[in-house]
Amino acid sequence: MYRATVCAPLLACATALVSACGDPPPTLGDLASRRGLLVGAAVQSQWLATEPDYAAAAAAEFHSLTPENAFKWMATEPSHGTFTWDEADAVADFAVAHHRTLRGHTLVWANSYSAQLFAILPDYVAQAPDAATMQGYLDEHIAAVVTRYADVTDRWDVVNEPLSTADATVDANVLTDTLGEAWMVRAFEQAHALDPEARLYVNEALIDGPGPRHDALMALVARLRAAGAPIHGVGLQSHFLFGAPPSADLESVMRDWGSVGLEVAITELDLPALDGDLDVQASAYRSVFESCLAVDACSEITLWGITDRHTWLDGFLGRPARPLLFDADMQRKPAYDAVAAALRGR
Ligand code: G3I
Repeated sequence: MYRATVCAPLLACATALVSACGDPPPTLGDLASRRGLLVGAAVQSQWLATEPDYAAAAAAEFHSLTPENAFKWMATEPSHGTFTWDEADAVADFAVAHHRTLRGHTLVWANSYSAQLFAILPDYVAQAPDAATMQGYLDEHIAAVVTRYADVTDRWDVVNEPLSTADATVDANVLTDTLGEAWMVRAFEQAHALDPEARLYVNEALIDGPGPRHDALMALVARLRAAGAPIHGVGLQSHFLFGAPPSADLESVMRDWGSVGLEVAITELDLPALDGDLDVQASAYRSVFESCLAVDACSEITLWGITDRHTWLDGFLGRPARPLLFDADMQRKPAYDAVAAALRGR
């Protein structure tokens, strides 16, 4: 009797514990995959290596990882023919170890506005003595990166920010000035030849609603496809510095891409909480996820980071932006719960 009365509650307790331990709450990635959506995050290799809580969240919560900087031209081939793979390999190794897929960001980024903010293209490319040499640099670079990471990468941002950031024209950068739009067609053809299974994207900023930039990108993508570029999708970067766009706007542009047979991914989502209102931020996040879930063409949402501890926006805005789902202590924010609720459909 003694054993029974003692053991029965203990057994009930143990059963509850085993059940709790054996059936952990689903992660964002799990919840999203039940809805046919891929949820990812941008990561940096140095924090994967040095911050266990960062690495644990990256591995647990997200089914896809994007190297925030490690695959970029400046990181992989800063001097012509000198390849520096350490950071990119570290991200790729992490993804393989945790059975995650990679979004290959980005093969070519030459946008003239971004080039004023960041070193995005090595000088030797811009200073190529003639068009043929410049095209040769592009060919060699794309071949090297795609060949090395084709096995672990299933989507590539082949061309990043082809539009002028200031208006709705094709960006007049050093590549387009020298080679015309043909360099983009060739970049897609080459990536497809080297990684035929991968889905290839144009990735662009400030195209999250109807308007001239959306129209300009649709026209550019149509021209590139007509010229033979194998394009499978369009990435909406979605750095929502001033809050989320109206759902109807976001859904409208996503449907437009779907109507021309392309998939659409939100590739760099972040939403600052500049006034500190985490509930407003949470409902904005929820709205973006619900929009993606409402549109068949929307296949992915990738966040531009994991924790408010590390975000490019702190530097860009000059103050703490707190734009992500985990706070600086790696605690879940209201935005995390709002995203989980959106993914659960309640
Ligand atoms: O790693 C070096 C370090 O060794 C060096 O000492 C330090 C000195 O400045 O720089 C470090 O590299 C910085 C890198 O971020 C890693 O933190 C670069 O200077 C800095 O330019 C780089 O900024 C990145 C930027 O793209 C340019 O590549 C941001 O982290 C990254 O969030 C941002 O991401 C872009 C997307 O690729 C495209 N869409 C817009 C988005 C935001 O700008």
